[in-house]
Amino acid sequence: MELRFSEEQQMMRKMVRDFAESEIAPFVERMEMGEFPRELIAKMAELGLMGITVPEQYGGSEMDFPSYIIAINELSKVSATIGVILSVHTSVGTNPILYFGTEEQKRKYVPKLASGEYLGAFCLTEPGAGSDAANLKTKAVKQGDYYTINGSKVFITNGGEADTYIVFASTNPAAGSKGVSAFIVEKDTPGLMIGKDEHKMGLYGSRTVQLTFEDMKVPQDQLLGREGEGFKIAMANLDVGRIGIAAQALGIAEAALEAAAQYAKERKQFGKPIAAQQGLAFKLADMATSVEAAKLLVYRAADLRAKGLPCGKEASMAKLYASKTAVEVAIEAVQVHGGYGYTKEYAVERFFRDAKVTEIYEGTSEIQRMVISKQLIK
Ligand code: CAA
Repeated sequence: MELRFSEEQQMMRKMVRDFAESEIAPFVERMEMGEFPRELIAKMAELGLMGITVPEQYGGSEMDFPSYIIAINELSKVSATIGVILSVHTSVGTNPILYFGTEEQKRKYVPKLASGEYLGAFCLTEPGAGSDAANLKTKAVKQGDYYTINGSKVFITNGGEADTYIVFASTNPAAGSKGVSAFIVEKDTPGLMIGKDEHKMGLYGSRTVQLTFEDMKVPQDQLLGREGEGFKIAMANLDVGRIGIAAQALGIAEAALEAAAQYAKERKQFGKPIAAQQGLAFKLADMATSVEAAKLLVYRAADLRAKGLPCGKEASMAKLYASKTAVEVAIEAVQVHGGYGYTKEYAVERFFRDAKVTEIYEGTSEIQRMVISKQLIK
């Protein structure tokens, strides 16, 4: 079996690669200083990247799923920050409305999200409900034709910048995961409070905030899916989201490998390039092999998704392996650079900091192993 991209997919790769090199690369320093890349999002919107897989009837580019994965992969080679902003906006910010929304909800929100006028966010995690995502303390109580939501969320990517938030709350705490419901919440909803920004190890420029809901009133027509269907909506979209994060991790690993190989060819010690010395050459060979294996897993999961086949297990395998590869390859890339790799002068230091979170968000590596093993024994 060969990994072969269609002409359209190759054009997508070239377009995104050119954009990343010409527009994102010069902006990386500003993101490293903490600036949220609004300008870049506007440019990505012009290229149709904010709604890659969204059907044309809802204002999207209507490209296939692997094209979306290619875009995340290419963007993340230059900036993992841009990769996560787009991945969260699309996989868990827009798709829940597209796949579970009423026609009215789709018409109201999806064209704005797909055009980049709106940015999306996803609010599942709470201080006491991370991996145990069904154990939500945020509650939604129906009163007449609206729900009153109280509670708090943490680690919300795109928080404070987003226009729409997919919020998960319990409408029936006694029912556990079957009592979770999903809501589309607009940014200006009274009672929605943006809390503190997390000061993260990496992914500078991407905002990650806490949110509080205080008697936040959400009209009942903002309920997404049926009452009690929220957990399935979260899980189904995370299945697909995890392929996006795997593609982001792959991008970081590829960039780290490329930087290490380049440096190893240039840096001379003991009278010859370090790449010509077996200790380093074997290191590069191992890094390249892991990257190739991660690539196959990522695009295999994307292909299954594109064909409408079950892909939860393969998405988890792709995320598990690609994130492990990103961390290991980034560590080795720093090692290849020696002392210089430990300075901010070289991008490998950023890759190293950005890689770690891919083993944590959208389900930790331990959760991916749970998902994979559950599928094996079911
Ligand atoms: N698709 C559809 N339904 C699913 C599903 C899926 N992938 N996985 C589970 N469900 C359904 C089950 O079928 C079950 O329903 P039935 O009883 O009707 O069959 C129900 O959901 C409960 O399933 P489980 O008993 O398996 O649920 P659980 O409580 O044991 O949890 C879990 C399973 C895999 C551990 C899940 O809690 C999980 O994925 N946790 C990690 C959460 C996570 O990924 N958080 C990421 C936050 S978002 C983020 O990080 C975004 C960002 O900002 C970057």
